[in-house]
Amino acid sequence: MKPDTVVEEIKSKIDIVNLIAEHVDLKRSGQNYKGLCPFHSEKTPSFMVNPSKQIFHCFGCGKGGDAFSFIMEYEGMSFPEAIACLAGKAGIRIEDYRRESKAGRSLREDLYAINKEALAFFRSNLPLSRQTAAYLKERGLTDEIIGTFSLGCGRQERNALFTRLVSQQFPPERIKASGLVYFGEQEPFDFFRDRLMFPLLDLQERVIAFGGRIMAPSKSSPKYLNSPESAIFRKGEACYGLHRAKSAISRKGYSLVVEGYMDTLLCHQYGFDNAVAPLGTALTAGHLKKLRRFSDKLLLVFDGDAAGVSATKRAIELVYAEGMAAKVLLLPQGEDPDSFLRKYGPEQFRKGMGNALSPVEFLLKSSGRNRIDGVRALLHFLSPCPDPLMRDEALRELADRSGIQEMTLREEFKNIHRRPSRQGRPSAEGASGMRMGGESAGTAALSREERMLLLALLSSPERAVPVLESSPLVNRGSGLVQGIFEKIKTAFISGAADGRSTERLLALCDEEEKRLVTQLSVSPEIDEENVEVVIEECLRNITVKDLEKQIRSAGEAGDVERLQSLLLQKKGKLSKSSGSLSRQGFTDHERRGS
Ligand code: UTP
Ligand code: MN
Repeated sequence: MKPDTVVEEIKSKIDIVNLIAEHVDLKRSGQNYKGLCPFHSEKTPSFMVNPSKQIFHCFGCGKGGDAFSFIMEYEGMSFPEAIACLAGKAGIRIEDYRRESKAGRSLREDLYAINKEALAFFRSNLPLSRQTAAYLKERGLTDEIIGTFSLGCGRQERNALFTRLVSQQFPPERIKASGLVYFGEQEPFDFFRDRLMFPLLDLQERVIAFGGRIMAPSKSSPKYLNSPESAIFRKGEACYGLHRAKSAISRKGYSLVVEGYMDTLLCHQYGFDNAVAPLGTALTAGHLKKLRRFSDKLLLVFDGDAAGVSATKRAIELVYAEGMAAKVLLLPQGEDPDSFLRKYGPEQFRKGMGNALSPVEFLLKSSGRNRIDGVRALLHFLSPCPDPLMRDEALRELADRSGIQEMTLREEFKNIHRRPSRQGRPSAEGASGMRMGGESAGTAALSREERMLLLALLSSPERAVPVLESSPLVNRGSGLVQGIFEKIKTAFISGAADGRSTERLLALCDEEEKRLVTQLSVSPEIDEENVEVVIEECLRNITVKDLEKQIRSAGEAGDVERLQSLLLQKKGKLSKSSGSLSRQGFTDHERRGS
């Protein structure tokens, strides 16, 4: 079975409404289903799912696409992983993607099973190692925490784990893919030997990786080793402790982000049960996306040394770019949450949390005498922030705290903010009168005619090709919408209104085009009987605008003859106007966003 036929088959068996309803509370709303967007935080639903076109779109953050896009975004999967996942749901077997092992299991299934077996192995070693017991005691971990976080330890022997995995009949290439065994020149040897083991569980509580801490300091090997990335483990996303912390994060309304394994454990032990940590890497946007499912607020706890300060800056930059909110707690130099909690106790820690700094305070404070650097850094970090309210609040706070005039700051911010090649941000209202957030600059530059025409053609695919082919003006130019018109011609030409036309179109579109198409496809539809009128009036308005442009240039050139003929043409066009769209406030000729 070829991949694209697999995709087709999956699409024919999966209903996007049912799929999304597993994760989002959906309510019927006209042609669409509506719910709270899982990709950004909101209080009123702007996330739409359209059953007839099998697509979703969020008017708040601009995300949109088909069932595959949803699963990829929601579960952080690659396309092949999404295929495997949806194929599973649809009951379809796909040899190409499953790469079955002898036992008939997929690679991912085997990796989960191998890690699970390894966990049992590491845990069973724990009571046998007096050294580890002494180490855990010295680090102050309770039996309860050791148990709930399933700590274990590796053996000293060269390949005790490998032997066990082989005896469980896991194929060697799958064992290799898990990263738990290193296949060197000679015999294979275990990657984690004689280390304190911290399993990393995903949200479904499957073991996906391990971290291993050396127990006696050594110059020759690193303090921590982490599993390499695999089909089930991506470092830039996995948060240590999240499977235990997720409900506390929702309940407390923020994630407590610390740096290390031990920090996470000690925080949980002292009741700070919303603590998580990235592992083997600095914080990334992938981590933030994971965390925001439970809350969009963070408290970042870092060491107060230079490395901690620069890590905090980077984290603030990421937090703003995600439109999330953060506070910062810098611990005294040389302390981490683990050492701080044991030295000063939870009350002091709580007090520190109460005095945590806002990003503005932090950046001003950490820039010391070079306050302007801090101010500028903040303006730059703030620029990609998609939330206008957050930007506004931060600018006001910055003015307050820096003593720089708010006007001056806003001017400077505008300069930075306007620079090209920035990602899109929420902008004006769309033709449907709904708030169209998350649009790119290209989308915002659409004229109303273009937007309405696209909307009409999407809701009436059988009209699309004839209209586009007979209206050369519409296709002129190289803008976003013209690109989509071109693709509509390809996608809609076969089978016209067969219900799959939007799907075919999306397959041809790039990200930005996709966003606009899904957005318009879930917009309140134009009434069936109005489609013709809308199309007609759009075409007329586009022609009129073009004539006006020509009139201006003829005027500037002083070409009176041409001017007269153009004015006549324009008059002719306008007299035919039915005015139906004027009633919808649709004939204003201002161009949005340009
Ligand atoms: P730290 O060096 O701050 O260690 O690394 P720690 O967490 O305080 O550990 P203890 O208290 O000495 O036991 C912070 C995090 O950076 C990653 C680990 O995730 C660690 O928890 N790290 C550190 C590595 O991945 N490899 C290393 O060699 C060191
Ligand atoms: Mn530590």
